[in-house]
Amino acid sequence: MRRNTEEGRLRRKHVIGNWKMNLPAVGMDHYLKALSEWSISDSVSLTVAPPFPFLSELRADADLHNLECDVAAQNCSDRPFGAFTGEVSAAMVKLTGASRVIVGHSERRTIFGESDAEVAASAVSAALEGLAPIVCIGEPLWIREEGSVYEFLRSQLQASLNDFDADANELVLAYEPIWAIGTGRNATPEIASETIGTVRECLARVYSDAVAARVPILYGGSVSPENAAELAAGDGVDGFLVGGASLDAAAFRVIYEAVAARL
Ligand code: PGA
Repeated sequence: MRRNTEEGRLRRKHVIGNWKMNLPAVGMDHYLKALSEWSISDSVSLTVAPPFPFLSELRADADLHNLECDVAAQNCSDRPFGAFTGEVSAAMVKLTGASRVIVGHSERRTIFGESDAEVAASAVSAALEGLAPIVCIGEPLWIREEGSVYEFLRSQLQASLNDFDADANELVLAYEPIWAIGTGRNATPEIASETIGTVRECLARVYSDAVAARVPILYGGSVSPENAAELAAGDGVDGFLVGGASLDAAAFRVIYEAVAARL
């Protein structure tokens, strides 16, 4: 089941910059000033995800520069409060002024051992606080080589969204093949578009055709100014989750404009 381009036009597009544990070399104020010179389209939502301590400052700075941008945390705890040293709850994220939260990024899953169940609980916690979750899924290389991408993604999607009410919350999915993240080896536009079609099919099975048609699915993994236009042209690609290239405002702008140009 491939969703057609007409249907794709109804979904809002997203470009999300994930700074990971980095800050832009020029400093946050210069960075946001540069972003405030972009022309932001109503149809392409812009989000920046800095490390936790910078969420409030980023929100305030973006407002100061009249930048229409959402602020996202890169993670939130699956627990509401208590003796969990180093954790940050969804309610605390909400207090910073952030409106979204990335959950289940592959670095959380592979380096910090987050399970699908924890990802699912974090997504639910975020939504309960009124934060829109950006849920990441993606296969390791051996799964692709083995030819079991569909089975892997379906089971990861189902387990990562367990108990999540997709009707009540503004959910965004990011398909990020692990072999493409931070490696400089992006998925080809064909693989990105085809696998996003697969994720949409999984979403329809887990929820319904209506939910599958409505939820934006982004591609992530070595998106750059050089490959953004080609990747954005892929059927069903509703935007990007950008890591490294989002730290450079000029590079990030080319990527944002590549998505806006597809409208
Ligand atoms: P990358 O990271 O663009 O640096 O590959 C993407 C991501 O991890 O979201």
